Amino acid sequence: MKNMHEDLSGFDSPKPSPEGRACAKAILLGEHAVVFGAPALIAALPDCIISHDCGPSDLLDVYIESWNLRIKADSLGNENSRALAAIDKSLEGLGISENFRRRRVLVKSRIPSQAGLGSSAGLAISAGRLIAGLAGRDDLAAPEKSVLFAEESEKIFHGKASGADAAAAAAGGIVVFKKGGILEQINDFPKLQLLVAYSGSRPPTRKLVERISRQRETDQKSRRLLDSLENLSLEGISALKAGDINLLGKTMNNAHRFLSDLDLSTEKIENLVKRCRNAGALGAKLTGAGGGGCIAAVFMEKDPANLLSEIRDISSWADIFTIQPARP
Ligand code: MEV
Repeated sequence: MKNMHEDLSGFDSPKPSPEGRACAKAILLGEHAVVFGAPALIAALPDCIISHDCGPSDLLDVYIESWNLRIKADSLGNENSRALAAIDKSLEGLGISENFRRRRVLVKSRIPSQAGLGSSAGLAISAGRLIAGLAGRDDLAAPEKSVLFAEESEKIFHGKASGADAAAAAAGGIVVFKKGGILEQINDFPKLQLLVAYSGSRPPTRKLVERISRQRETDQKSRRLLDSLENLSLEGISALKAGDINLLGKTMNNAHRFLSDLDLSTEKIENLVKRCRNAGALGAKLTGAGGGGCIAAVFMEKDPANLLSEIRDISSWADIFTIQPARP
């Protein structure tokens, strides 16, 4: 939805404080398997989505600058408007009165939308944190409370999703997520560089989750692959906790192979993964549902900065994130 002719004048004086911050997410290990109860290792991409208050409005009205997207809360509108109305409803359910919810909100995002990086959960959590802050509800800033801002809106976008996006968006650092919530926040691991690059097409997440679920019921090979992905997730979690990033990288490479065997990779993804490995990534794989979306590559000693310009020649969006413990 482009806003070429829309009047955006209400969004030109964002107040510096309070602001609402949220992370995006990149799954390092465990996508798809997480839907069936396996643990997933998820890196939160820090401070990717930041919401600023631009004053009162007649309804919750959001403009996401870099997506050129204006959304007004409307429970009878399109998917975006319904999702914003759902965020508004969640805030109401948490006891925040209408005068704080009827705001104009300017959102700055470092990530593209619809790329499988959890942008919708990030938007819900950053806007929710902003509005909770305006209402003086600092008790809702904690990750386990902030996920509630995204609870209803994520159902609109993702159907029966695992909830991983919202958990990571609210938490920061690296988390072990199991369906239902965060199992563990990993607070002791060496600083990592994560290169994330978009393959150029929207991941058909809902369709792929349904396909993999059907295959798991009917096809033994797929079931075995999902079991192997679960085992790799466990192995990678132990490796990260032991500070063994080489081993974490190897588990990511192996996971990529199994995800490809489940027919979740694409030519563009393979190309991006290969380039990252050739440039010294310890591990590189598709991240999220696959079939498009993004890849994630882990670097430690080797600086991926030079690679970034090369990757940007073949990818419409790529960036490097420093990942470190949320609470060291
Ligand atoms: C999508 O980012 C990750 C999946 O595991 C689905 C989910 O966890 O909801 C494919």
